[in-house]
Amino acid sequence: MTDTTTAFDPTEFRKALGAFATGVTIITTRTADGTPLGLTANSFNSVSLNPPLVLWSLANTSGNLEAFKAAPNWAVHVLASDQEALSGRFARRGEDKFAGIDVDTGAGGIPLLRGCTARFQCKTAFQYEGGDHIIFVGEVVAFDRADSSPLVFHGGKYAHAAHRDAGAKPRNPYLAGGFSEDFLGYLLGRSHFQFFGQIRPLLAAQNLTDEEFYILSALTLKEVVTADQMHEGMSNVIDENGSTAIEALVLRGLVRNVFDINGKSAYQLTADGSACALSLITAAKSIESQLLAKLGDGEAAVLKSLLNRLLNSIDPNANSLWHQSGI
Ligand SMILES: Cc1cc2nc3c(=O)[nH]c(=O)nc-3n(C[C@H](O)[C@H](O)[C@H](O)COP(=O)(O)O)c2cc1C
Repeated sequence: MTDTTTAFDPTEFRKALGAFATGVTIITTRTADGTPLGLTANSFNSVSLNPPLVLWSLANTSGNLEAFKAAPNWAVHVLASDQEALSGRFARRGEDKFAGIDVDTGAGGIPLLRGCTARFQCKTAFQYEGGDHIIFVGEVVAFDRADSSPLVFHGGKYAHAAHRDAGAKPRNPYLAGGFSEDFLGYLLGRSHFQFFGQIRPLLAAQNLTDEEFYILSALTLKEVVTADQMHEGMSNVIDENGSTAIEALVLRGLVRNVFDINGKSAYQLTADGSACALSLITAAKSIESQLLAKLGDGEAAVLKSLLNRLLNSIDPNANSLWHQSGI
């Protein structure tokens, strides 16, 4: 067999293998004395429908090698997109991976993790040597599945899964590829306009303008904000009416004038302002949930992740400005 150390660059080989996007699984089993074991693995694959067979491979260097070789049963957990931390925990050697985790018990007393996209309980069918790994083939004796979106691994990083065809039809076929339908500014602006159209009645009920709401919500991020910080951080959000909006909030007793630790004039929410901001944010969050439910959990996470990346690249100072340590 070809020796990869001389045939080609192992780093490049790893990178090329990483081009194959996979899900992420955790494989669990238990030792004869009942100790639970497990590790993160993306080598999982389906093998056969009838009989129902799956496989995965384990590095010969794994601390769990002997235990898996001896185990009559093991379980594969296909992780959901919100289980990245669990994947990290089971990929670290030497810690008590099950500490503080509630588990179910499966065939042969195998620990079963919760909250996964799918779980396959298997009986060991075959074991094959595969270079520096051992390939385990298991017969599925039970499985269950949830509708949550899966965690993805690609190019050595965790990723999101989003369906390409979800809602893929352009809203107006005549405009497909046209400037507005395809222009990021239009898509962002129109989305904001429509989204805020749903929040505005809540603001109107409290007799608040958009700008007053932006200021109230910004003040929930940081306890004391100086006038300069407010204008810098919200320069594209509040215009010259911003000062009037702050004054109106002060007059209504929702915001108070204070001094920051450097003696600079600053603003802070009053108790009434805090309660008002929190009730509006809660209501706005509920509208957000209804809108994002149309996309589904996985695609909503992709949308937010991409928008965050875009914002970090075009507005890199925003995070540090609202950081609490500035007060
Ligand atoms: C996304 C991901 C996929 C992995 N896939 C595998 C795999 O398929 N087989 C394997 O042996 N190790 C794999 N690992 C590495 C193991 O999880 C890691 O080496 C772990 O420490 C092994 O634990 P153990 O030595 O306690 O068995 C993967 C790690 C990550 C983060």
